[in-house]
Amino acid sequence: MCGIIGYTGLEEATPILLDGLEQLEYRGYDSAGLALFTPGGSLQRLRAKGRLSALRDRVREQAESGADLRGTAGLGHTRWATHGEPSERNAHPHRSANGLYSIVHNGIIENFEALRAEMEAEGVAFTSETDTEVVAQLLEKLDTGDARETLRRTLPHLEGSFALGILYHSEPGVLYCARRQSPLLVARSQSGTLLASDAAALLPHTRSIFRLEDGEMARLTAEGITFFDGKGNETAKSPIEAARHVTAAEKGAYAHFMRKEIDEQPEAVRRTLEPLLRSRQLQLGEGERALHDPGDIHRMIFLGCGSAWHVGCVGRIIAEELCGIPASAELASEFRAQKSAINSHTLCVIVSQSGETADSLMALRLAAECGARTLSIVNVEGSSIAEESDCVLFTKAGLEVAVATTKAYSTQLAVIYALCARLAQLRGTWSGDSLAAFLHGLTALPDQIEETLRTCEAPAIAWAQELAANEHAYFIGRSLDHAAALEGSLKLKEISYIHAEAYAAGELKHGTISLLESGTPVVGVCCRQSVTAKTKNNLEECAARGAKLFCLTNDTALRLPRQILLPRCHTLLATSLSVLPMQLLAYKCAELRKCDIDKPRSLAKSVTVE
Ligand code: M6R
Repeated sequence: MCGIIGYTGLEEATPILLDGLEQLEYRGYDSAGLALFTPGGSLQRLRAKGRLSALRDRVREQAESGADLRGTAGLGHTRWATHGEPSERNAHPHRSANGLYSIVHNGIIENFEALRAEMEAEGVAFTSETDTEVVAQLLEKLDTGDARETLRRTLPHLEGSFALGILYHSEPGVLYCARRQSPLLVARSQSGTLLASDAAALLPHTRSIFRLEDGEMARLTAEGITFFDGKGNETAKSPIEAARHVTAAEKGAYAHFMRKEIDEQPEAVRRTLEPLLRSRQLQLGEGERALHDPGDIHRMIFLGCGSAWHVGCVGRIIAEELCGIPASAELASEFRAQKSAINSHTLCVIVSQSGETADSLMALRLAAECGARTLSIVNVEGSSIAEESDCVLFTKAGLEVAVATTKAYSTQLAVIYALCARLAQLRGTWSGDSLAAFLHGLTALPDQIEETLRTCEAPAIAWAQELAANEHAYFIGRSLDHAAALEGSLKLKEISYIHAEAYAAGELKHGTISLLESGTPVVGVCCRQSVTAKTKNNLEECAARGAKLFCLTNDTALRLPRQILLPRCHTLLATSLSVLPMQLLAYKCAELRKCDIDKPRSLAKSVTVE
């Protein structure tokens, strides 16, 4: 999390840094700051609590007072607090006690308490509560007069993850950077060089982008970039394929990116399926490599966090049903907490929109260490997870700006369907008419998503008007409908701040039903034909305890309270439609509750700390 940008070159740095932070703000938005070398060679810093707009205001005020933030080299940072509350003094850049080093940091320094205690005992005065400040202080403590050598000596003392941007006061105009487990890119533009935690901040300037690998460092000047390995030896690098689809996103006529991204789903799913399913023939391109010798795959594990894990929950069910392979969906953050029985007969499918989620990346690395085949489903080309997995299937959602995922989730589902169907076909567990019917359903899916969005908006608004004033809500369903309920409840809680929980419908009576009171909203998902009758019974049990029911179904015979009728589709694809009214419900509730929809409190789009 957090966003880093740095620039050195011929142009004024402040506008470049502020515009870069604008692109990165989705990574964290509780405070922001800049540090610049002034034309006289001294270091100037400006920080502000709150959104980037607060920092922009400070820059403007400074300019109006005649004290312009001028200079052609500097660093910027937008923060998502890990250690220390969001405040100006905890905002980056952080400075060492004597001002030798100013740094910005993404990640977590896990041994910061020990390092801090040691330096405090030596008399170093700390000014923030952050883990980051220890890096600035340690650089100063170990300073050799040569920043590159100091950095090389300092990094081994740090435990945890970092992407660091560093200014050394004795070398005006020079930026240093280093990384371990947190992404960092550097780039050459027409007027200078840049560094950033994310390609989005670099692409307006250049396509000549280089990825720093774990343990690498770089020195940036206006003229060029020098790369070093962990021993300080110079290394050579080639530019990466920068994400082709990343362009500055515009809201257009929409009030929020989330609403726009909801509407982009039919096209995004169509685009994603297009290379995978041509003339009703499945072909996974690079993904085929992960499926070689398909009979040798004895187990599948879907790994992800948040919504990406919900996609894995769908994958687990479909993989077992279609491919006859024991499958599980594991939270990437939990995967490393105990030993899993995985080996070369395991196919691990890592699902991640950003491709940079730290927990998912660590899970991928563990899976690879254990010899598993790794296949990732990722939206961002060139991202760490895409680069490190054996093979990757890209979702074609385009840039997703809203923190709450919608179109990335839908495109991930689409890839999961194609992947499972192809594996079933290769294993011979599914062929003939059943496969043809599934592929027919998959081909029709983008149009059905479009139709559902068209018909569901009005009823979703009506639902929201009844539900938005509540503080608690429950979502229930069985099988795939439970996976959809998980996503529906997450959407509602993350953007509207209504506490929402999803339960397997049959589980309510084992405890949760005691929470239901008169008027408690319960959203029931009844789209998986084989289990709708049972879920309907569970809904009736809720109604008998006073719950207010909101029901989604594609079964015209069901007749449930406040029912939204969805188009009938292949039963294994129903999640792709049932999630849509729940996305709209969450959006409308958040709107009615006047929430900051695209940037919900305390969240960030890309979660690069464990
Ligand atoms: O970038 P990733 O898909 O790896 O992110 C995983 C989760 O953080 C993400 O899906 C999160 O749960 C969504 N913002 C929820 O809408």
